[in-house]
Amino acid sequence: MATIEKIHVLQFRNIENQYIKPNKDINLFVGDNAQGKTNLIEAIYFLGHNRSFKTKNLKDLIPFDKKSIKISAEVDGSRVVLERSKSNNNASVNKQKINNNSKLTHLLPTQIISPDRGFIVGGAPKLKRSYLDWGVFHMEPAILQTYKSFNRALKNINTLFSSGDSKQVDFWLFELATLSVEISSARTNYIERLCKKMERPFLLKTIKPFSPNKTLSFLFSSGWTKEISCLDQEAIYGFLKKNINSFAKVKHLNYGPHKATIDFFLDSQTEHHFSRGEQKSLSIMFWVAQVLILVEMGVIPVVLIDDVSSELDKQKIDLVLDCLLGLGVQVFLTDIGKRAPAVDKKKTNSYKINSGVIEVF
Ligand SMILES: Nc1ncnc2c1ncn2[C@@H]1O[C@H](COP(=O)(O)OP(=O)(O)O)[C@@H](O)[C@H]1O
Ligand SMILES: [Mg+2]
Repeated sequence: MATIEKIHVLQFRNIENQYIKPNKDINLFVGDNAQGKTNLIEAIYFLGHNRSFKTKNLKDLIPFDKKSIKISAEVDGSRVVLERSKSNNNASVNKQKINNNSKLTHLLPTQIISPDRGFIVGGAPKLKRSYLDWGVFHMEPAILQTYKSFNRALKNINTLFSSGDSKQVDFWLFELATLSVEISSARTNYIERLCKKMERPFLLKTIKPFSPNKTLSFLFSSGWTKEISCLDQEAIYGFLKKNINSFAKVKHLNYGPHKATIDFFLDSQTEHHFSRGEQKSLSIMFWVAQVLILVEMGVIPVVLIDDVSSELDKQKIDLVLDCLLGLGVQVFLTDIGKRAPAVDKKKTNSYKINSGVIEVF
């Protein structure tokens, strides 16, 4: 169960020395444009990942007049401190230095939806994979090692292909075929679980106003050609060996789990024909479905919703918040509007953000 009991953003973008004692249920942050709402969401995300969802560049996160970022928090009674500068990367839990970010992820799993991150429906395959793998990781934490080994094998294969030295590639192709079956199998299991969740009446109710008479479906593509089963190691290895020359020609491996994606359909229409509203509301459904699955697995994430009213109308905000409240997850949401959502006031803390200064309101 992840609950942030206290959070102290000492230095992060335009937020300096701001301290909050959040509500265990809902925390609403309102403010005009460019005041620091997304920065705060990003800081909380950073606490759970030791990285940002917006940038790979640490420099972007360091306040203009400072040399480091620093955030600390109390999460379920544990004290987390993250401090990063050009030369330092200190992450600690209860004063013990941690070297592995998955420790943070287990302590503070987060589920985020933000226009700055993009939407999975109509979004880039990379985002779709990251959505999928987040669920997979929580379902099977040991899979992290498989992903790491897969990435290493892929890197070696691509290096050999790009240097024109494909003689030693066979070993790595075999390795990659084996690992790719593990990844595809975990992803397929997770998709099955997701399909079941999408049948929940709550989710159907959320989508109804957007596409009254259309049927939603989605299709997982494993990244291999349609002819091979993504669970058949031998067939994959055979395909890789047979096509070595064509991979050598393009100098990289252009098939495999790193090319997997999910395609969405409303009746026979593909996601690129959906309206922006349909893309957003379907993305939010998938996002909520993932929260439901995580909770079911005993992983209670902290939920981050950025720019809520630009993503959902009032009726849907209330539906989503009611559902999240029912699940007992802690929510941080930001909004440009001043109107508080129609949920129990006792369960909501409201704050105003102005030039990075956060005040109870
Ligand atoms: N590294 C940084 N140091 C100081 N200020 C920053 C930094 N990065 C972004 N900002 C400022 O943060 C503001 C944008 O904050 P943001 O959280 O995106 O706003 P919003 O409230 O619209 O979500 C801008 O004024 C920008 O100049
Ligand atoms: Mg913003």
